[in-house]
Amino acid sequence: MNITLRQSRIFEAVAETGSITRAAESLHLTQPAVSMQLRKLEHEVGMPLIESHGRRIHLTHAGEEMLRYCRRLNRTVREAGAVFERLREPGHGQLHLAVASTVNYFATELIASFHRRYPDIQIRMDVTNREALLGMLEEYEHDLILMGQPPDSPELEAIPFMDNPLVVIAAAAHPLAGRRRIPMKRLIEEPFVLRECGSGTRMALEKLFTRKGIRLSAQMEMNSNEAIKQAVMAGLGLGVVSMHTVRMERESGKLVVLDAAGFPIRRKWYLVHRRDRYLSRAAEEFKQYLLDYVRNEQGAGSREGAGPALPGTHTAGRA
Ligand code: PGA
Repeated sequence: MNITLRQSRIFEAVAETGSITRAAESLHLTQPAVSMQLRKLEHEVGMPLIESHGRRIHLTHAGEEMLRYCRRLNRTVREAGAVFERLREPGHGQLHLAVASTVNYFATELIASFHRRYPDIQIRMDVTNREALLGMLEEYEHDLILMGQPPDSPELEAIPFMDNPLVVIAAAAHPLAGRRRIPMKRLIEEPFVLRECGSGTRMALEKLFTRKGIRLSAQMEMNSNEAIKQAVMAGLGLGVVSMHTVRMERESGKLVVLDAAGFPIRRKWYLVHRRDRYLSRAAEEFKQYLLDYVRNEQGAGSREGAGPALPGTHTAGRA
């Protein structure tokens, strides 16, 4: 079969945008140039690869197959590009990260500091929940992923880099605020504002409740830590979030962490990448920077004797 890398890139862009016009725009080509390459590709395989329904384009079965191969080809070419980029200059290139929504709070500070050191590395970061990150690990798109416990797989390299305690938060005026060792039975009498299914935070909480024989009844769900904090401050109920997400609200006295039995749930954050995906120089630099950054932060913390002040560590769960 005789297909060109140009056709491969064009086909992936058409499949991804669902439109010849948008594919042409994204590749800085004209529409007729894109259509012509598509026709040549169809001629080469001897069957249609796309069909149009109104203005939107859909892939035929052969088109789906073609997309798989084009993605693989394009990725290999990008990887080759990254290898040569790495051979050229340190401190340059692109970095594509994906982080769990709870990690975002830590990641932004880290990236600001990394950017000061490597201003010429372009960074793109996707922020999403655990379930979506697991999908991303399958897709080879990202250089590095920062997330909760990844699946146990020989294909993944996973380095734990920081504790991620999950705590129960309440509005400062909540009747349980300031109470010592709140039993779980008492805790669950309160309404909860929970993260969505698919979130690592939610998964860890469900694991804890299942272990204790408690069923989570239908409660309020939100897919953002910020929304949960706002809801809790507005008195809608209690929330369970990562300790890292509530630093400012605790300092300003708007939210409190409850001293609740079973909490904090002890989770960790991991730096994850696929072993069979080439790590660009920029990604290597970021990986090393993150590990040094965490080591320095932890060193500073222990020198100042400033471990995070966690109430209720007596019956901490593990997830
Ligand atoms: P989440 O992930 O943002 O999906 O809750 C955090 C985690 O897995 O601990």
